[in-house]
Amino acid sequence: MPSRGIRDKVAVVGMGCTRFGEHWNASADDLMLEAALAACTSAGMAADAVDAHWLSTLASGSSGLMLSRALRLPYRPVTRVENYCAGGSDALRNACYAVASGAYDTALAVGVEKLKDSGTSGLAAAEVPGDGTRPDLTAPAAFSLVAQAYGERYRPPSGALREALDRIAWKNHANGALNPRAHFRRAVPLDTIRAAPRVAGELGLFDCSGVSDGAAAALVVRAEDAYRYTDKPLFVKALALAAGPAAGPADPGYDFTSFPEVRHSAADAYRQAGISDPRTELALAEVHDCFTITELVLMEDLGFAEPGTAWRSVLAGEFDRDGVLPVNTDGGLKAFGHPIGASGLRMLFECWLQLRGETPEGAALTGNTAHRKLALTHNLGGGPGECLSFVSIVGSEPSE
Ligand code: COA
Repeated sequence: MPSRGIRDKVAVVGMGCTRFGEHWNASADDLMLEAALAACTSAGMAADAVDAHWLSTLASGSSGLMLSRALRLPYRPVTRVENYCAGGSDALRNACYAVASGAYDTALAVGVEKLKDSGTSGLAAAEVPGDGTRPDLTAPAAFSLVAQAYGERYRPPSGALREALDRIAWKNHANGALNPRAHFRRAVPLDTIRAAPRVAGELGLFDCSGVSDGAAAALVVRAEDAYRYTDKPLFVKALALAAGPAAGPADPGYDFTSFPEVRHSAADAYRQAGISDPRTELALAEVHDCFTITELVLMEDLGFAEPGTAWRSVLAGEFDRDGVLPVNTDGGLKAFGHPIGASGLRMLFECWLQLRGETPEGAALTGNTAHRKLALTHNLGGGPGECLSFVSIVGSEPSE
């Protein structure tokens, strides 16, 4: 059964986020500390006064000791969370539930990853070769199958799907160019995107998220305490996580044009938050654009476009900064890169800035979103047919 939810029971009252990129001179500990301390400082709290911590990292550390050692914590509970690329979101989810349960007054979710000097590349398959029964595809190769399948199923006019993917890359790089924390801070012309070398199948360089280092953190307290820490808290409206049966690659019934896990988690989150039309109720959405085709299909799975039509909405600019529903206004994984354990909390950081009106000049939302008070993050862990999907909804006002 889907979650009963904890709508408006807890609030985020402090956040921190490092610059994402190639941090040759900073360790994972340095990045984690910068984000954690910024989150606590922004709420006027000492880091060692937080009651409990959840730390997300896929490969940059192991146990909770990574954080307790760095923060010199005085015998506090610290748990390391690992849930593929959705780990940062799951750290938040755990911190929120811990506070909502009444077990703790304050909890910190931290996500960190340092990939650039680890040799990590999307071109190396993650799985160790086994007995041959599991598909052995790189992430770009696995997601390129979605582009091919989507084109074959929905048959957009010639060139339209390619144009929509180019447009997503162009949009997210343009948004990232406005963001001082993004890894890639240059707008990329469409001609450059079109001329880029192919990486896997139809996917080229600018269809891929980058490999990056970074950290982000969020401090969670009970909703009734929120205004003691900040005059602009974000109230947690929904937290939904769905892990699929992971049978997709071997299941002839799975057609690679949708992520059922996303549909389940989105339906659960909308029910928890009382949202009936996300396109008109959300101010913005930060979604898991690990590849441009992922963002395109997510527009359908999250209910922002009807199945088979997202390419048309993308080309019409509906998800641009001044569109019907701005998506990835900070530049997304595309411009920030994807330090795995940190990405989910980085998405929340953009919602935090936008809903509090604290984005850098030029990066604020415009148009019909000014009066909307809700934002969504979507974080995917795994690949097509075998993934976990997380959706959160946060808002700048408690329910009436
Ligand atoms: N998007 C835009 N620009 C990128 C980029 C990306 N994804 N990756 C690298 N670049 C840029 C670099 O900034 C650099 O630019 P410069 O020459 O102007 O300095 C140039 O491309 C070459 O960078 P380099 O690091 O040598 O690229 P690479 O060839 O080693 O890596 C990819 C390119 C696509 C292989 C890499 O970004 C990748 O593996 N992405 C996918 C990651 C992934 O699969 N994550 C898991 C998701 S589920």
